[in-house]
Amino acid sequence: METNNQLQEMLGRVRAEIAKVIIGQADVVDRALICIFTGQHALVEGVPGVAKTLLVRTLAHVLGCEFSRIQFTPDLMPADITGTNVFNLQKNEFNLIKGPVFTSFLLADEINRAPAKTQSALLQAMQEHAVSIDRETHILPDNFTVFATQNPIEYEGTYPLPEAQKDRFMLKINIGCPDRADELTLAQRSLGIRSPERILNSGEVQQVISAKELTALRAELDAITLREELVAYGVDLVRATRAHESILVGAGPRATQALLLASRAFAAIAGRDFVTPDDLKDMAVPVLEHRIILRPEFEIEGLTVGEVIAKILQDVPVPR
Ligand SMILES: Nc1ncnc2c1ncn2[C@@H]1O[C@H](COP(=O)(O)OP(=O)(O)OP(=O)(O)O)[C@@H](O)[C@H]1O
Ligand SMILES: [Mg+2]
Repeated sequence: METNNQLQEMLGRVRAEIAKVIIGQADVVDRALICIFTGQHALVEGVPGVAKTLLVRTLAHVLGCEFSRIQFTPDLMPADITGTNVFNLQKNEFNLIKGPVFTSFLLADEINRAPAKTQSALLQAMQEHAVSIDRETHILPDNFTVFATQNPIEYEGTYPLPEAQKDRFMLKINIGCPDRADELTLAQRSLGIRSPERILNSGEVQQVISAKELTALRAELDAITLREELVAYGVDLVRATRAHESILVGAGPRATQALLLASRAFAAIAGRDFVTPDDLKDMAVPVLEHRIILRPEFEIEGLTVGEVIAKILQDVPVPR
């Protein structure tokens, strides 16, 4: 059976508009949409120039959402993210100057370049969907979704996110380099007047829905069936990470929630109104990868977290 036609029709148009700008990277686009539809956040990893910024800008345009970007630096202060109350002499009162966190899609670039206190300001906003400034709480927009990038190459002078903080991101999205055919298309377009940036700025990419409609559509995910046995399967998969011989620190209970929510959104994107075991399998790596620490002796041997998760997927019995 098909999910709600409106959702499917909308998704088709969203994909088509995004594809006018972003060449290839279908899995990456789907995973970004999963985060947006579930109101969760993504940790984005990829070398410079794989269109991380362009992707989030394009998503914001197509989904009618506000976009802002924060470049994290060692001197960035928490108030640079959240905002400050400034005294207005004429009116004799404090006025809130909202920081860049007051947006829908927030690109937090190189989050590991700022010290812990500044990272926490963002992570708290993600967790609570609100920020407190001078003891007053301000609610963030409904579709608030953070895409945080980490610089994977230069670790010097950086403050890698602690494990407890990484756990707050629903998915890790790895953006690899394009394959040869896609890179060729990109190279050809970049030479002419059809560069991806120009296409996005030219007005030929349509806004498919408004921010309000997006919020309403998100609620439709609740109608997707997730059988009891699959909920248990999700719990078993996450629990297996805590008992595996090559894992030092396994995934916590937030991972279980993330796995189930992501699988439901993944099913919707695939055009189904029910979740299958394969949906959970497909979501296992992006949900679990950043939450697992291998034992050093296994890491030295060259074992990767992805391989361990693949092993767990083989071992944990799949419900019929
Ligand atoms: N798959 C792709 N589709 C369309 N354009 C792409 C793709 N991959 C790379 N590009 C091009 O690469 C360039 C860099 O894009 P962008 O600035 O978004 O990268 P980035 O990943 O944010 O880089 P950085 O890590 O340096 O911030 C852009 O000119 C964009 O046109
Ligand atoms: Mg960028």
